[in-house]
Parts: sequence; structure tokens; C-alpha cells
Amino acid sequence: MAFRCMRLRPLLPARRAFSTSRAARSDALFVHRDTPYNNSKIPFEFDEANTKIAKEVVAHYPPQYKKAAVIPLLDLAQRQNKGWTSISVMNYVAKFLDMPPMRVYEVATFYTMFNREPIGKHFVQVCTTTPCMLCNAYDILSTVKEHLKIGVGETTPDGLFTLVEVECQGACSNAPMLVVGDDFYEDLTPESTKKILDAFKKGQKPKPGPQSGRHTSENSAGLTALTSKPYGPGEHCQPEFK
Ligand code: FES
Repeated sequence: MAFRCMRLRPLLPARRAFSTSRAARSDALFVHRDTPYNNSKIPFEFDEANTKIAKEVVAHYPPQYKKAAVIPLLDLAQRQNKGWTSISVMNYVAKFLDMPPMRVYEVATFYTMFNREPIGKHFVQVCTTTPCMLCNAYDILSTVKEHLKIGVGETTPDGLFTLVEVECQGACSNAPMLVVGDDFYEDLTPESTKKILDAFKKGQKPKPGPQSGRHTSENSAGLTALTSKPYGPGEHCQPEFK
């Protein structure tokens, strides 16, 4: 009997008593559904300045490999299209690079840097990967959510902010951090996070970088090595060594 029970055990539903995780899903569906604001009939093309930049980017690649420019061109087009990549943007880039549109869709749906839905004026990305998580990134995320009164993946009713949760942004030594547009705000606390958001609300541009008073990612406890005045090239690069 005991033997039969043991054989049956694997058939019982699996239970994880001490931790659970949400299923990891993309922020957006991989499929495109036509909507009034996102359908292939809405025209898109590079403006004059971006056409020049796009041609220059393409010129960096051998003519037979110009499709390698798909990511910089999608990025350029997304910036022109108020921060998001519509079906018309993807189709235009495909045409620009003589690529099958499906190849462009594959790139745009794989890389999370391409937003496939409209976003607010300030795109707030909070990193919650392990180094940031260990430095209270979830407090920062909760602060942003409560301060802006929106959830992850949502935009404020005034269209000013969109919030997303992202993986490592490569600024782990200044964790926890968030990104607004192209700028990193680092060494955050809930208070400094609120100040940054309030400044954006007022139309100001808060100073990017560490919010703790650190210059970059130097030891916050002060110098413990290489404490003497540097010599040779670069001697006067940093004001504290002058
Ligand atoms: S883990 Fe957040 S920037 Fe690397």
C-alpha cells in the first residue's frame, strides 16, 4: 500500500509552501491587433533630420548587411514617434532597410526597449533586479506607484508618466535606481524618488546621477585606497585633487 502511495505522489498537485512567483510575461502581446491609434493605414516616415541620420547609420554597414541597422533605426523612429513603436513605424523601417516586415516585428517584440503601446511624456523604468532589489528597489517601486497613483504598465491620466518595472540597467553599483527617458537616477531613497517625480511634474529636469551626494560610484565611506594625490596624466581632472 505504501508503495502504491509513493507512486501516486508525483501525481499530486505541486505546492510551493515558502515562495511563489508570478508567471513571467512580456509587457505586451506579441501579436498586433489593429486599433484606431495603431494600424498600418496611419502614415509614418522619417522627418528630414532623421532621414539624414538614418542614411548615415545605414552607411556604416556593407550594403548587403544594411538590415543590421534595424535596432538603431527602430530606436530613431520610436523617438520621432513620441516614444513608441507602432505597426507603421515597423513597416517603414522594414521598407527603409529592404527587410521582410516580419523580421522587424521579431526584433521589436523581442527587445523591451521598444514600446509597442503609446507612453506618457516621462517614461519611468524602475529596476528590480537582484542588486537593486537588495537595496530596497521594491520600496522605490511602491513609492513611484503611490506617488503617481498608477500601477506598473500604466500611464497617469494627464499623460505625464508611464511606469514600468525593468531588469538590470547596468548601474548596480549605484542601486537602487530608476530611469526617466534617457537619464539614470541612482542611490535612491523613497524621499529622493518623490523629489525627482515632483520636479518632473513641475516641468523641471532634476539632475541625473547619484542622489546621495556621491560623484559617481566611488566608495560612499570615503577613500580607503589610492588616497594620495594622483600624478601623471589626468592629475587635475577631479576638482577634489586640485
Ligand atoms: S540591478 Fe539594478 S541596475 Fe543592475
